[in-house]
Amino acid sequence: MLKRQSLIVANWKMNGSLDSIRRLVGAIVPGIKDVPGEVLICPPFVYIAELVKLLEKTTIRLGAQNVSQMESGAFTGEIAPPMLKDLACEYVIVGHSERRMLYNESATQIARKFVAVQASGIIPILCVGELLEDRNARGTEAVIAKQLDTVIEVAGIKAFRQAVIAYEPVWAIGTGKTALPEQAQEVHEFIRLRLARHDHKTADSVRIIYGGSIKADNAEQLFELADVDGGLIGGASLVAKEFLAICHSVR
Ligand code: PGA
Repeated sequence: MLKRQSLIVANWKMNGSLDSIRRLVGAIVPGIKDVPGEVLICPPFVYIAELVKLLEKTTIRLGAQNVSQMESGAFTGEIAPPMLKDLACEYVIVGHSERRMLYNESATQIARKFVAVQASGIIPILCVGELLEDRNARGTEAVIAKQLDTVIEVAGIKAFRQAVIAYEPVWAIGTGKTALPEQAQEVHEFIRLRLARHDHKTADSVRIIYGGSIKADNAEQLFELADVDGGLIGGASLVAKEFLAICHSVR
């Protein structure tokens, strides 16, 4: 039993076309009705407006995969938090490992994005996670602690009352290797305890979702863990049947 409302997030990454997303949403919507908790889709920016139309009259929520930390101005190619708010985005992913690694986003920049997103009334989904070498060197907790602490310092602990944390071990993303249930639970519990050092109530209420090669056949055992409140789904969210089966694994 989850004590917090569950959240399943589809992170489409840089995939899809107008035609394929229409078909995908068309196949997901009818099957989503009795899924408990929240389901969220984060499409590429250019398809957000189309998703607003496609998700009208459904319970599926809309989010974005990235955002600028600036509010407006001469920042060619960037998208500001108020623009996402304008299009009714309720959530934004910040600090995904692909952003940290491929686009060199620093911990401080991610913390600033977290703050900017909240200032626009959007809920940040803060991704944290270790590399395989960190895990092999028993450095998982140190890496996660640093990623969390930077945001706590910049945003303050209370900011986590309006936030979601996603634990995404980098070695599990897109690799087909999922964290074992005990590995996931261990890190999720660590994250909660780290927040509890500042504020118990916040630590207890924040949703911590797991991401990294979740599929229909491993979702249930992850979602039933005490500190796992849902999932961030990449590859499997692009296949309607698979994504729906994951959503229905929430109890
Ligand atoms: P994956 O991606 O499910 O394809 O591993 C998860 C993510 O990066 O959010």
